[in-house]
Amino acid sequence: PARPVTVTVTGAAGQIGYATVFRAAAGDLLGPGTPVRLHLLELPQARRAAEGTALELQDGAFPLLEGVEVFDDPAAAFEGASVGLLIGSRPRGPGMERADLLEANAGIFSVQGRAINAGAAEDFRAVVVGNPANTNALIAASHAPDVPRERFTALTRLDHHRAVAQLAAATGARTAEVDGVAIWGNHSATQYPDLTHATVGGRPALEVLAAAGHDRDWVAGTFIPRVARRGAEIIEVRGGSSVASAAHATLCHVRDWVLGTPQGSWTSMAVASDGSYGVPEELVSSFPVTCRNGAATVVPGLELDAFSRERVERSVQELAEERAAVAALGLLGPRG
Ligand code: NAI
Repeated sequence: PARPVTVTVTGAAGQIGYATVFRAAAGDLLGPGTPVRLHLLELPQARRAAEGTALELQDGAFPLLEGVEVFDDPAAAFEGASVGLLIGSRPRGPGMERADLLEANAGIFSVQGRAINAGAAEDFRAVVVGNPANTNALIAASHAPDVPRERFTALTRLDHHRAVAQLAAATGARTAEVDGVAIWGNHSATQYPDLTHATVGGRPALEVLAAAGHDRDWVAGTFIPRVARRGAEIIEVRGGSSVASAAHATLCHVRDWVLGTPQGSWTSMAVASDGSYGVPEELVSSFPVTCRNGAATVVPGLELDAFSRERVERSVQELAEERAAVAALGLLGPRG
């Protein structure tokens, strides 16, 4: 049998954490051939709730679940970890300025970055879900200089799924017929869900949309804002934030990263930029990526039209501002 993989889940007693760990135990994170050992990290005040989750995980009698341990110390929680699901973060409270939010999260992600640097396994990889996810990933990476930068990613897979689903709905297609959607930039309202390379049933999505009465104004005025503001729509309709869909996206992100994207297809992930498409190398930005042998590679050579370039630049500008704010507060680690 395969060796068990240690997976550290932060914010494990929170909503997304709770929705993620049972599916991870069921094999939806690393596939049905890989046993997992779960390390649940919580704040001291939520430790008891995480212990309750651990009891329920035991009650699942999951054949792939090798063990569950609960921690409130990041150093112990990341010891030996190969996968980090960094879900816990400090949400924006009423009247909280952006600088306060960045500072509170820098406190969390710098400590976790140092713990990862000190004790995680050689093959450690992380997806940051907790917002502001891209910049939190950058902060963690800056405090983990011995871990390759590209192992710290952030979640834009939920945005990717939302874009796929909206395109399918607008064209009357099944989601399985949609391909080539891309999310660029920040996981925020400035993100750019890009349909210019997308296909529906093998035909260019923009043509299929036009035939369904949706022109490029519909893309700019309806599709893009609907995807970018879907989180707010869920809160309004459901009376709570996106949870199960975020958990699902988190599992898909790691699974594709480790096991590979389907041949001829790509997904979207926020990764340390390699300088492609004019995105500065020090930023963690969403790109279309393919994954092979555990590595994510930005899809090269895509033609960006003037509209796309402008939208990508705007979102990347926001990432640069977030990074500058964190740097000005002195919160970046030794890797900078
Ligand atoms: P939640 O508030 O239910 O859970 C967060 C948990 O994290 C809490 O149990 C809290 O005790 C814990 N936590 C906070 N600081 C921690 C630390 N330093 N170490 C360990 N645990 C810590 O929130 P929910 O709904 O689970 O969302 C989690 C995060 O995911 C939020 O930041 C949210 O904005 C973000 N999110 C990101 C999405 C994306 O697509 N990137 C989509 C949806 C949510």
